Amino acid sequence: MNGSLRRRLWRWIAGVTLASGLAAGLCSYLISFREAQELQDDQLRQMALLMERHPETADGWMSPLGSVDGNDRDARTVVCPLGVAPKNPKLPLLPGTLPEGFQTRVHHGTAWRLYVFTLPSGVRLATGQMTAVRNEIARDSALLTLIPILLLVPALSLLAAWIIGRALAPVTHLSHQLDTRDDTNLTPLSAHGVPSEIRPFVAAINGLMQRLSTALEQQRRFIADAAHELRSPLTALMVQTDNLEQSISSPEGKQRVMQLKAGLERAGKLLEQLLSLARRQAGAAPATDVPFDRLVQQVIEDYVPFAATKGIDFGCERFEEVTLTAPAEDLLVLARNAVDNALRYTPPGGRVDVNLYRDGGEVVFQVEDTGPGVPAGEEERLFEPFYRVVGNDETGSGLGLAIIRSIADRLGGTVSLNNRKGTKGALFRYRQPLTQHNR
Ligand SMILES: Nc1ncnc2c1ncn2[C@@H]1O[C@H](COP(=O)(O)OP(=O)(O)O)[C@@H](O)[C@H]1O
Ligand SMILES: [Mg+2]
Repeated sequence: MNGSLRRRLWRWIAGVTLASGLAAGLCSYLISFREAQELQDDQLRQMALLMERHPETADGWMSPLGSVDGNDRDARTVVCPLGVAPKNPKLPLLPGTLPEGFQTRVHHGTAWRLYVFTLPSGVRLATGQMTAVRNEIARDSALLTLIPILLLVPALSLLAAWIIGRALAPVTHLSHQLDTRDDTNLTPLSAHGVPSEIRPFVAAINGLMQRLSTALEQQRRFIADAAHELRSPLTALMVQTDNLEQSISSPEGKQRVMQLKAGLERAGKLLEQLLSLARRQAGAAPATDVPFDRLVQQVIEDYVPFAATKGIDFGCERFEEVTLTAPAEDLLVLARNAVDNALRYTPPGGRVDVNLYRDGGEVVFQVEDTGPGVPAGEEERLFEPFYRVVGNDETGSGLGLAIIRSIADRLGGTVSLNNRKGTKGALFRYRQPLTQHNR
């Protein structure tokens, strides 16, 4: 998801949070560092002030201090006389000419921060701290101020991710709603709970669906009307051909009329299939509880004579009682088209088996034959309207499987036509989930 809005937003917010965190951290560090140093300077001055007020304590302050190098924090402030060698050799030797106030001096490679002052007795002294120790303490206290900022940056980034997720939830919900729709569902999307920024988008999609649905409806109606209108002239033509057949005595003439009749029959069948497809696509037939086993039984009986003329061994292997909730007409058309194909495309002397059984929560209706099977890679194309395998000598419209697919889609079933495994022939399979009360 390279172009993910959520990710892009998050990256920006996290980036800005991090940058402001860094800037705030740097400022806070520098300010705290300075503050700490000023505080330390203050300490030096306070101590000097104390000694100026109580000069008698100065000697005590000056007695050798244990450690001055910072391990012992309390000992880090020292008092040195000016112009005299201090008792502790580690302390700096200060010239008597140093001006009053703050200054920094280096003694044996160690830098000292000093505050020079004069006691009322005229003795000059300096309070001092090692610069390195001062800096370390200042750094430590400045670093402590960074902790809340360091914790805040990741916390804010996580919070931003959560907020973005929440804000974009309606979009995710919308796309899920669109994604899980089946192709025949062109009802408008609900704008309920959709933020106002996305509402025009929903309205645009709904407008598109509305136009699409109108166009589809027009197309369906045109096919249905055309097929219906063509039916009457075709019936009239068939009657005329019958009459013509009776008035012709020459064998050659009769042969021609036979061809004419066959052509008319093909056209009639095509029209019937077109009408059937248009009716299936128009939908809206009420679903009832249909005893599917009895319906399939009826189809088998209807096709027994046709199977007999081709010498096909036609029957059923596994046959269970099942009830499906669907328009009966749809199930009938589905079963009829499947059985018709198997018997039509299986050469004389072959075998066709129908199976009907429950598998988990589904009904499986299966027709197996010993015909030529289907060309590899064309299994899906066969379900397109008017698609027929090249070199097919049987009469047909190429609409049978398209009708079946349209029925299956509407009933929430799945349909497939594949080659049988291990033996020659095709396997037609229709699966439909059982409704709860039919299980
Ligand atoms: N059982 C089958 N065995 C072999 N080929 C089949 C079988 N069923 C369908 N077909 C192929 O699929 C094509 C499409 O079938 P269908 O949609 O029923 O149209 P039609 O039977 O009118 O040609 C058929 O023309 C045929 O080539
Ligand atoms: Mg067919």
